[in-house]
Amino acid sequence: MRMKQTALKDVCVCLLISAGIIFGHETGPAVVRVVVEVGSDVVLPCSLSSKENIVDKLFDWRKDGQRKKEVFYYNAGIHYNNGHDGQDQQFKGRVSYFSDQLKNGNASIKIRNTKMTDSGNYTCDFPRLQPSQIFYIELVVGAPKPYIWTLNVTEDRVLLQCEVRGASPQPKVEWKDRAGNILPAEEPQVSDRGGRYYVTLLTTVTKTDHYRCVVTQEEIHHQTHSETYVFINEKLCEESSSKELIGWLGGLFSGLVLGVLTLAAVLVARKHIKRSLIKGKFI
Ligand SMILES: *[C@@H]1O[C@H](CO)[C@@H](O)[C@H](O)[C@H]1NC(C)=O
Ligand SMILES: *[C@@H]1O[C@H](CO)[C@@H](O)[C@H](O)[C@H]1NC(C)=O
Ligand SMILES: *[C@@H]1O[C@H](CO)[C@@H](O)[C@H](O)[C@H]1NC(C)=O
Repeated sequence: MRMKQTALKDVCVCLLISAGIIFGHETGPAVVRVVVEVGSDVVLPCSLSSKENIVDKLFDWRKDGQRKKEVFYYNAGIHYNNGHDGQDQQFKGRVSYFSDQLKNGNASIKIRNTKMTDSGNYTCDFPRLQPSQIFYIELVVGAPKPYIWTLNVTEDRVLLQCEVRGASPQPKVEWKDRAGNILPAEEPQVSDRGGRYYVTLLTTVTKTDHYRCVVTQEEIHHQTHSETYVFINEKLCEESSSKELIGWLGGLFSGLVLGVLTLAAVLVARKHIKRSLIKGKFI
């Protein structure tokens, strides 16, 4: 028993380096936690501290859930990728092992193109070793990059929408400008669909800048973002004001012309009236 505990501790130390995030429980088995962004590949670590050759041994990866799922099975060179039956549909064609690592007791696997449904607790089991060994790995698939939509563009403002599609645990969503200031935004719209959170956040911007929608899941130390560039044509505003000026000047000018013409007409009329008066008859 003591030997097993030491073995787990050693596993933890080397995984600290390779996996990044570790949660050693005071009681119960050590659990290695791996966090990955949805869509990327991930290595689930599992190594015997004895480093004994496992090329001719058996190891079995399973995923916990409502029902246990077969993730990867290897038995002395026979495995799911070369004909052995029984792999869960969810993992078909996405899981591989490191053949060159087996001689070092390394039964780590790689899962390609992770999906949200891959989140969960995995076990890596060596049932036939003396003593048998089992390792616990928690895979957390972090929130995907958010989608950004540009809505209601007007001359001097743009409405930006950020959308997170399915994240667990519930993420915090914020709009930031290039300098990192958090922008005032509307109340986020959150919907919970079977434990996955869909979040929409709107903000209105009035300046040319790079804007970032930042998605944070504090519990799992995961953060991701998307960025967009907004160009507000400040010249357009100046232009429109100079147009106004031209309009105003134009108005003034036509006013002047009209005034001069009126004056001329009045003068002509007066002369005519005077002449009529001199001649002694009116009209
Ligand atoms: C096991 O193999 C994987 C894949 O090559 C590697 O990333 C990992 O560091 C190895 N683990 C140990 C303990 O050497
Ligand atoms: C793994 O199991 C623990 C304990 O049952 C649970 O709290 C945790 O949510 C599980 N992790 C995932 C990613 O489902
Ligand atoms: C965008 O503009 C349309 C039409 O002017 C308006 O109906 C809609 O409410 C606006 N959307 C938002 C989110 O302000």
